Amino acid sequence: MQPVSSDSFSDIPFPDLPCTIGSIRAMTVETLDEGTVRLEIQFPVPGYPHREAVLTSLRERLHQVRPDVQNVEIAESLNVIGPKSGGTVGLRVKNVIAVGSGKGGVGKSTVATSLALALQHLGASVGLLDADVYGPSIPHMTGSSGKPEVREHLNTDGSIIQRVHPVEHQGMKLMSIGYIVPEQEAVIWRGPMLHKMLTQFVSGTEWGELDYLIVDMPPGTGDVALTLSQMMSLAGAVVVCTPQKVALLDAIKAIGMYQKVNIPVLGMVENMTGEIFGRGGAAKAAAEQRIPFLGEIPITAEIRVCGDESRMQDLLAAGSPAREALLQVATETAMQAAKQFLSRPKQTSLEILQ
Ligand SMILES: Nc1ncnc2c1ncn2[C@@H]1O[C@H](COP(=O)(O)OP(=O)(O)OP(=O)(O)O)[C@@H](O)[C@H]1O
Ligand SMILES: [Mg+2]
Repeated sequence: MQPVSSDSFSDIPFPDLPCTIGSIRAMTVETLDEGTVRLEIQFPVPGYPHREAVLTSLRERLHQVRPDVQNVEIAESLNVIGPKSGGTVGLRVKNVIAVGSGKGGVGKSTVATSLALALQHLGASVGLLDADVYGPSIPHMTGSSGKPEVREHLNTDGSIIQRVHPVEHQGMKLMSIGYIVPEQEAVIWRGPMLHKMLTQFVSGTEWGELDYLIVDMPPGTGDVALTLSQMMSLAGAVVVCTPQKVALLDAIKAIGMYQKVNIPVLGMVENMTGEIFGRGGAAKAAAEQRIPFLGEIPITAEIRVCGDESRMQDLLAAGSPAREALLQVATETAMQAAKQFLSRPKQTSLEILQ
């Protein structure tokens, strides 16, 4: 049998993404024995919502171009796309995503942790960085402990460098000041120290190869965002807000702050949706600001209790009432990061070295 060419599939689009199978080289084709063809498709986003549609297009196209093929085997895998922008600071992460807000206590750490867990659940390799050095939440929320170890590595030029190894917990790499300084001890950092600590967390840490590094941002000023954006070009920021009007005004300020430091805003998440704070405010504000809305997370006792009791992963278990919402926010965030990346003009991947 004549081999089937992968070119036959290259113009098939990934619905809702500005790319085709050919443009991101997402497929290989193997012609096995008489009448059998094996297609391997790599999806660019975890939990890609139009997976079925792509599989149908593949089968239809094969039938069109090669009606002689009797059997088709389709293998699916995940090959996340992203700006891979940390190269100059030694980071091999495809997408660095900051989770921030305009004010404290709206659920940044809850959303950052559940976003990291949900992306991992959908098959991605994920790290979680706690950039809140004054009030670290990640060790407690994830129920992880341990000390990041300093190990010596051989540099490409033959010299020996020291790298910090993050804490690993249930397959996720984690870094937080909370692993280094005891929980009760308040940490007072001055601006330059804060900058140094974050640089160490990002570029002095052996994150390995990751699809996503989620950064739990501290409340308040733009210092941390500025430091991050000077190190690399982030995939983008997720802005968390609660549905009430006052909280939304703060979120709008946060959007402005990210835009000012050149971090694209991937969208807004409404957290604590329900009877107490209301519903729909964030979707409306996102539309007014012309930024994507990434979904809403209900206010539930389960979310608070799982955070308090260090069992956030239980929120993704079958039967958990928050599960659908959290997976939806994670998929939508990944979709927006992919869209941003694919629509970026290539020459703007400027990286500032400090
Ligand atoms: N959807 C939700 N339903 C119920 N409780 C929630 C929800 N989201 C967050 N919480 C609870 O609200 C509190 C604050 O959440 P969290 O620590 O994530 O906020 P934060 O924005 O990171 O705060 P900070 O500004 O102090 O860093 C926590 O007790 C958390 O468990
Ligand atoms: Mg927090």
